Amino acid sequence: MSKKYTITTPIYYVNSVPHIGTALTTLAADVTSRYQKIRGRDVFFLTGTDENGLKVKEAAEKAGKSPMDFVDEISSKFKEIWPGLYIEFDDFIRTTEPRHREAVQAFFSILQEKGHIYSGSYEGWYDVSSETFFKESDLVDGLSPDGNEVRWVKEDNYFFRMSAFQEPLLAHIEANPNFILPESRKNEVLSFIKQGLRDVCISRANPGWGIPVPGDDSQVVYVWFDALINYVAATGWPNPGWESRWPAEVQWMGKDILTRFHATLWPAMLMGVELPLPEALVGHAWLMSGTEKISKSKGNVVAPLDVATSLATRAGCTPEVAIDAVRYYMASVMPMDTDATYTHDEFDRLYNTDLANDLGNALNRSLAMSHKFVDGVIPGGVVETDAAQAIDDAKAKFDKAMVTFRVDHAADAALSVVRFLNKYIDTRAPWALAKNSDPALHAVLRSMLLCLRTAEGLIRPIMPKTADAIAAQLGLPSLTIWDAIGSEESLPAGVKVSLPQPIFPRLDLTKKQEPKKMDTPKPQPAPTPAPAPEVPTEITIDDFAKVKLKVGRVLEAEPLEGSDKLMKLQVVIGEEKRQIVAGIRKNYTAEDLIGRQVIVCVNLKPAKLRGTESQGMLLAATDTDGGAILLQPDREAPEGTGVR
Ligand code: MSP
Repeated sequence: MSKKYTITTPIYYVNSVPHIGTALTTLAADVTSRYQKIRGRDVFFLTGTDENGLKVKEAAEKAGKSPMDFVDEISSKFKEIWPGLYIEFDDFIRTTEPRHREAVQAFFSILQEKGHIYSGSYEGWYDVSSETFFKESDLVDGLSPDGNEVRWVKEDNYFFRMSAFQEPLLAHIEANPNFILPESRKNEVLSFIKQGLRDVCISRANPGWGIPVPGDDSQVVYVWFDALINYVAATGWPNPGWESRWPAEVQWMGKDILTRFHATLWPAMLMGVELPLPEALVGHAWLMSGTEKISKSKGNVVAPLDVATSLATRAGCTPEVAIDAVRYYMASVMPMDTDATYTHDEFDRLYNTDLANDLGNALNRSLAMSHKFVDGVIPGGVVETDAAQAIDDAKAKFDKAMVTFRVDHAADAALSVVRFLNKYIDTRAPWALAKNSDPALHAVLRSMLLCLRTAEGLIRPIMPKTADAIAAQLGLPSLTIWDAIGSEESLPAGVKVSLPQPIFPRLDLTKKQEPKKMDTPKPQPAPTPAPAPEVPTEITIDDFAKVKLKVGRVLEAEPLEGSDKLMKLQVVIGEEKRQIVAGIRKNYTAEDLIGRQVIVCVNLKPAKLRGTESQGMLLAATDTDGGAILLQPDREAPEGTGVR
C-alpha cells in the first residue's frame, strides 16, 4: 500500500463551538491538503474532537447534560461547521470512539512493557482549562502561566519517563531542520527542552469520565496523553495497515499546544513505543481580538460563518464567494511568528483591496476587453515574456511557501499574478493597440487571459468556489493539476469566454459589519416642492462629500441614435458596469473614447436622455464653444477608485 500524505489538525475540545481562532488551524490544514491534492498526492486529512477531559465533564455538568449527550451535540457541531467552510477532511475522530480507546490502551500497555511507565504519587497544581499540571514555581500570581485558575491535586498516579527522551529529542530536532516550524517556534521548543524535561503524570483518579488505565479502573489516562494518540488511532494502529497513513507529513496546531505537548510529550511517546515521528510540526500564532486571544472563555468569539453572511448581505456577493473571502482572510493573515488581530474593519478592507480591486478588476477587465477586441474568443499566439515570467515566478513562490507551510506567503503568491495582470493591462493598453490595429493585440489579450487562468489555479487551495467561478467565466474546466497551471495548454485558443459577471462587488465601507438597531421610521409629512436651487458661493465639506465621484474606464462607445450631440457609453467602475449618455459627440469619436479613463459622478439619480437611461455623469470642463473637455486621472488609477 502506498503511503498517503497525512495532514492533521489538533482535535478540538468540545467545551466550546468553533470560532475564527479554531477555524484558523483547520483552514491551514485544508489549504495544505488542497494544494497537495493538486500536486497529485493522495492525501489523508484528519481532524476530530477531544472529549475525555475534566474540562469537558465540567462543561457538561454546567450545561445540565450527561457528558455523553453533551459531547455528541458539540462534536456534531464541529463536524458540521467544517464542510460549511469548504473544509474537506477525510476522517473525523472522536476520543469517545472505541477505535480510539483501544489504541490508547494498547499504547499505554506497550510503554508499560518497555519500562517507560512507573507508579508514583503526584502533588501539585492542575489547570483544568488547559488540562495541564504545574509546579508551585510555575505559577504567576497564583494562576497558571496561561492565566487560568489552578486547583491543588494530590493523587497516586502513573508517570511517563519523559526525562529519558530529552537527548534523543534534541538530536532529532537538530538533525531535522524542518521538524518544528516556523524557526522562531523551534527556538522556543529548544530552550524549553534544554531547561530539562521532567517525567509526566499520565493518569488521574477516575472521575467517571475518560479512558481507564489498562488493568487499573481506579485511574483514567491523562487527557493530553489520551488525545495525542488520536493521530495514530485514526490510521488504524495498532492493527495492520496503519503504515499507509503514519507518520504524518505535517501536523498543524496553534503555538499554545506546541512546546509542552506536540513537540515534546508526543515525540517522546512515539519514541517510547518505537513509532516514527511526524515529518513536520507547524505551530502558528494566535488570532487576537484587541490584546486577547479569541476564545469562548474570553467571550470575544467571532463565528466565521457570521462574518461570511454579513459580507454577502452587505456586498451582495454570493454566499459561496463570501465563505471563500473568509478563507482568504484567514489564509492571508495566517499569523506565524507573531499574533494577528482580527477586526471587522480589517476584514472588510482586505476584501475590497485584494478581492474586489485586485482579483475582481483583473477578471472583469480581461473578459470585457476580450469581448470588446476579439469577440470574446481566446486568441492563439505566444504569451509575452514578462507575463510568462510573472506566471513562473508566482508558481515558484507558491511552491516555495508551501515547503515550509507558509500559507500566508502562498496567498500572496497567488495574488501576485493578479497584481501583475492589472499593471500589465495598464501598460500594454489593449485599447490603444486595437485603435492602432497593432498586431501585438492578440498576444497581449492571450497573456492577460493566461495570467487569469494561472490565478484561478493558484487561488484554488484557498478559494475553491471562486476558482470554479473564474474557470466557468473563462469557459474552461477547472484547473486542478499543478503542472497544467500556467501552461499554454491550459488556455485553448478558440474557446469563447463569457462576458464578465462580477464576483466581488465592492463593499461600501460605511456599511459596517455590526449594524446598529434601526428605529422604526416615523411617518414623514409629504414633501413640499423645493424651489430651484441656487448655486451657493460657499459649501461645506459635508455638502461636497454628498457627491460620489469614481474613476471609470470606457469599454464601449457609440453615437446615440436620433441625436447629434449624445454618445452612449458602457463604463466599468470597479465591479460594476454602467451605461452613461453624455453630450460629448461634438468633441469625441467612439475610438477616442474606448479604453479612456474618465471621472464619473456615480450617485446622480438616473435620468432618461432621448429615451435611453443614463446611470451617471462624466466630469468635463467646457471649452469656449460650449464643447466638452473630459477630465481624466493624471496617471492610471484602478477603476472604482474614489475621487475627492
Ligand atoms: N484539545 C486540545 C488539542 C489536543 S490535540 C491532540 C486543544 N483544543 S482547543 O480546542 O483548545 O484548541 C485547538 C486549536 O485551536 C489549537 O491549535 C489552538 O491553538 C487553536 N486556537 C484556539 N483559539 C485560537 C486563536 N484565537 N487563534 C489561533 N488559534 C487558536 O488545545
